[in-house]
Amino acid sequence: MPLDPRQCLEVLVRQDLERNYILSYLAAAFEFGEGFEKPPKLSTLDKRGWDVIKILDNPQDYLDYPDSAEDMGEDRCLALLDRIFTDKLTDMIQRRFWSEFMPISIRIARDARKDKPGTSHKWHFDTGPQTHLKLLLYLNETDGGTMVINRHESDLLARGGYAYTTEDSRVNDIEKVTRKMGIKTPKQTLVTPKPGSGILFEPSLVAHKGVKTSKGVRNLIQVLIIPFSVPWRNNWPQGWDLIRRNDNAGFPHMRAG
Ligand SMILES: [Fe+2]
Repeated sequence: MPLDPRQCLEVLVRQDLERNYILSYLAAAFEFGEGFEKPPKLSTLDKRGWDVIKILDNPQDYLDYPDSAEDMGEDRCLALLDRIFTDKLTDMIQRRFWSEFMPISIRIARDARKDKPGTSHKWHFDTGPQTHLKLLLYLNETDGGTMVINRHESDLLARGGYAYTTEDSRVNDIEKVTRKMGIKTPKQTLVTPKPGSGILFEPSLVAHKGVKTSKGVRNLIQVLIIPFSVPWRNNWPQGWDLIRRNDNAGFPHMRAG
């Protein structure tokens, strides 16, 4: 497990600069920020990098949906996104970004106890611009969940060189990393949202890993959200064209050097 702080910083900066995310984000935030009479209070999402929110009343209705947006089709996808972006969730996202936003992918992810652990079941940061959010919306009862480390403590791990590592150097036990860095092992929180609730977090700044359920299957809707200049609804059907093609639900992989 090589620790390479230089690479972590380079990836973070290159994601934002070379791909112009930071420019479009700043433009969107300037415009939107003028709408605030005074700066909004810090939210839980601001302070920790993650929060839990109730969203769907009837999560079981979506269990049989196909995994990919393309297979769901435009109408079902749009109807589902309309349900997901409640006024409360919209407000949380707008306050975090200081801008409007746009979903850039939606898919259903499923894992069972018997499945081989994947790379998302080990501690990692998602690659992508610093300012983006991921929603993992749980569809059924589970004793698994999403394990997270608060943003400020995650930042120490990234600064010490554990972020955007190759997938085979991800660890299951974060103590292996903190021991090597000589820092205190951070608090690790297992978040187990109730069916219909989700965890909203900053996946490129908050260390996280998926935790499988001990029985049955863990089913969750995964939505990736970026800052945008107009409300996402006003950008449909162009938004659909992007979502339909973005099936692996992420940003292009970028490693330094
Ligand atoms: Fe992830």
